[in-house]
Amino acid sequence: MEEKAARRRLVLVPVPAQGHISPMMQLAKALHLKGFSITVAQTKFNYFSPSDDFTDFQFVTIQETLPKTDFKNLGPLQFLLKLNKECQVGFKDCLGQLLLRQSNVCIIYDEFMYFAGATAKEFKLPNIIFSTTSATAFVCRSVFDKLFPNNVLDPLKELRARKEELVPEFHPLRYKDLPIYRNIVDKQTASSVIINTASCLESASLSSLQQQQLEIPVYPIGPLHMVASAPTSLLEENKSCIEWLNKQKKDSVIFISLGSLALMEISEVIRPGSVSGSEWTESLSEEFGKIVSERGYIVKWAPQKEVLAHPAVGGFWSHCGWNSTLESIGEGVPMICRPFSGDQKVNARFLECVWKIGVQVEGELNRGVVERAVRRLMVSEEGEEMRKRALSLKERLRASVRDGGSSHNSLDEFVHFVKRL
Ligand code: UDX
Repeated sequence: MEEKAARRRLVLVPVPAQGHISPMMQLAKALHLKGFSITVAQTKFNYFSPSDDFTDFQFVTIQETLPKTDFKNLGPLQFLLKLNKECQVGFKDCLGQLLLRQSNVCIIYDEFMYFAGATAKEFKLPNIIFSTTSATAFVCRSVFDKLFPNNVLDPLKELRARKEELVPEFHPLRYKDLPIYRNIVDKQTASSVIINTASCLESASLSSLQQQQLEIPVYPIGPLHMVASAPTSLLEENKSCIEWLNKQKKDSVIFISLGSLALMEISEVIRPGSVSGSEWTESLSEEFGKIVSERGYIVKWAPQKEVLAHPAVGGFWSHCGWNSTLESIGEGVPMICRPFSGDQKVNARFLECVWKIGVQVEGELNRGVVERAVRRLMVSEEGEEMRKRALSLKERLRASVRDGGSSHNSLDEFVHFVKRL
């Protein structure tokens, strides 16, 4: 059986953004360890340069002509629409070339790179969807239209009017927590869906997906960074912060990181690259800069997983991207949640109300609001309880990726499924 798997080539198509490339490369690694041959089809835009950890992998480039500035100018959703149009022809060329040398090919594509599903269908190749967001966010996108039966033409209007209300059957999500776009999953074409989650985190959403929303198998095989770790950073990690952390007391530091995409106002944040129009810390007053350099440490790009694993880190102020959420829970670190868009609000709500390991900060930010959130998480009894729950969830996650655990078993089932396709 192993030999048959070795002959099957999986072509993986990631969205060219850090939060999508990382889990896709971790998935690639996990499947390679199971004996599959791997090809990664990447755009020129945000090209991931593989390290020696990926020497047995084949990398091919989808030719496209997207200007580098498009992402910031268009915003994520419009950019993805354009990307899908732009990549169609280039991906067909890549696949055509590959099929001259190789049979037994299967495509695994990020759900937002749906052009790859359409091309697979054209070439009559089996294809599988990979979701890098939570199962709950996936369910919300799947039922988006059904949630607004009286307002299908303008769901956003209804969503805004009812924003504080709980969504029926989606407790504890409120309308304002919903991601405001639909799923692109093509149930007619895809043969299964892989989700980067574990059943101990989202059993209800996974059951709903498996039993009601999708007629194809769903494989929860995450957190993938715990299943198969590999260096996946697009930017160089500045590891000097670890030396600084080594000098700090246990659980005394809050790590602040807002992922790779969120852009915000200067009044909210000072991380270089996260503020429109700013590259470094030029916006800080001299006095504030001095306080920060005495009591904190700023880098352009941190080795996030290493930082979260450091004993000095007692809390994580995050935008609640799904990777950051999984990485924080995976190290037992409770969070202050400041979500911006897409699936992040769903994750924040689950952190605060379901897993009870987070404090969500809503509305306008000011000194008092920040101070209260920090005190609640870092020095209150309530924060201590959150830390205990986070540590217990960490153990459950670790068990789920070990021999006999749910994600471990699900990965094995997926491998058998792919061998039979
Ligand atoms: C985006 C969406 O925002 C997110 O909600 C979705 O689930 C995936 O795509 P992003 O905003 O980049 O992702 O956030 P996140 O999912 O948290 O991924 C960011 C990744 O960058 C994490 O793996 C994190 O470890 C890494 N990172 C971030 C670093 O390694 N160093 C940093 O300094 C900041």
